[in-house]
Amino acid sequence: MRQVEVALGERSYPILIESGLISRAGAQLHPYARGGRLVVLSDENVWRHHGSTMSEALAQDGIEAVRILVPAGEGSKSWAVLGDLLEKLLALGLSRSDPILAFGGGMIGDLGGLAAALLKRGCGLVQVPTTLLAQVDSSVGGKTAVNMAGGKNLVGAFHQPGLVLIDPDVLGTLPDRELRAGYAEVVKYGLIADADFFCWCEMNGFALLEGDAAARLHAIETSVRAKATIVAEDEREAAGGRRALLNFGHSFAHALEAEAGYSGSLLHGEAVAAGMALAMRLSVAEGLCPDEDAMRVAGHLRVMGLPTSIPGQDPQRLLARMRQDKKNASGRISLILSRGIGQAFQTDAVSEERLLSFLQHEVSGGRSVA
Ligand code: GLY
Repeated sequence: MRQVEVALGERSYPILIESGLISRAGAQLHPYARGGRLVVLSDENVWRHHGSTMSEALAQDGIEAVRILVPAGEGSKSWAVLGDLLEKLLALGLSRSDPILAFGGGMIGDLGGLAAALLKRGCGLVQVPTTLLAQVDSSVGGKTAVNMAGGKNLVGAFHQPGLVLIDPDVLGTLPDRELRAGYAEVVKYGLIADADFFCWCEMNGFALLEGDAAARLHAIETSVRAKATIVAEDEREAAGGRRALLNFGHSFAHALEAEAGYSGSLLHGEAVAAGMALAMRLSVAEGLCPDEDAMRVAGHLRVMGLPTSIPGQDPQRLLARMRQDKKNASGRISLILSRGIGQAFQTDAVSEERLLSFLQHEVSGGRSVA
């Protein structure tokens, strides 16, 4: 079994990665199941594919899975669904010492994580991510949130899990589109600070998508190690801290997702892929980054079936969305840009006028999505 530690003093926790781990999850989860039961939050798709494996794994260790299901999709990451979930958890009589097991993709982790942060001012949380995106990014680091009309992830809390269990085998039932979308977050770690890993992605991305177990394991472990290191340095995304780098591509992505109405027409990872390609091109336009690096990144995303732009946007509306970004301070838009592959950095030096002109050029017209 691979193990990565998120080193946060008394809130440190392990990330365990192993093929088939869910079918043995009872042994890992036994210490969390007080009174012989464990509340499992999941969505209808995940439960259909993996619910019986999880229930049986818990039952083998004498734990009853008390399941709460929400509809699949980003639409469930809402204030209304959160309120309903909290009422259900209270009706079950959960105490602070009873953890919520978030068993699903990014939506389930964020929703369950925020419920755990709020319930009785904070109860325990265990993450068992079932999508590539959640396995390499959102299940680690304690960010929880729901979406609001004003934008993505605008209401949330930092609430670290006590344990993350990653079973790469569950990716076998993930739709191809979701796998590709999650792969964008894998590429992100190469682009932020690890040019060698980006080369690895170029060489092994196809194998990963096609189901190569060793490639999946390597990508997951490398990604969570990179994330754990950054989170241990800067848990709460302090001003000027390194955690903001994990938002590479996300300022554009969150605005694009909000414009798409969190509808499923644009998955988070797809928006991140387009956002990363846009961040690279803006870096080139600002004279910061070699053009060939931006072209290489766009080329890799494109061959992996990911978008490198989302055309047909209203640039003024996108800019207004970007003004809501959580990284912004002192009335300036903060962006993660790049000096080259593996060299991301944060800056507020791009004026709104230059950003608007870039958006007008890049996403308002009929530029090709692929
Ligand atoms: N997904 C970005 C972060 O966790 O900071």
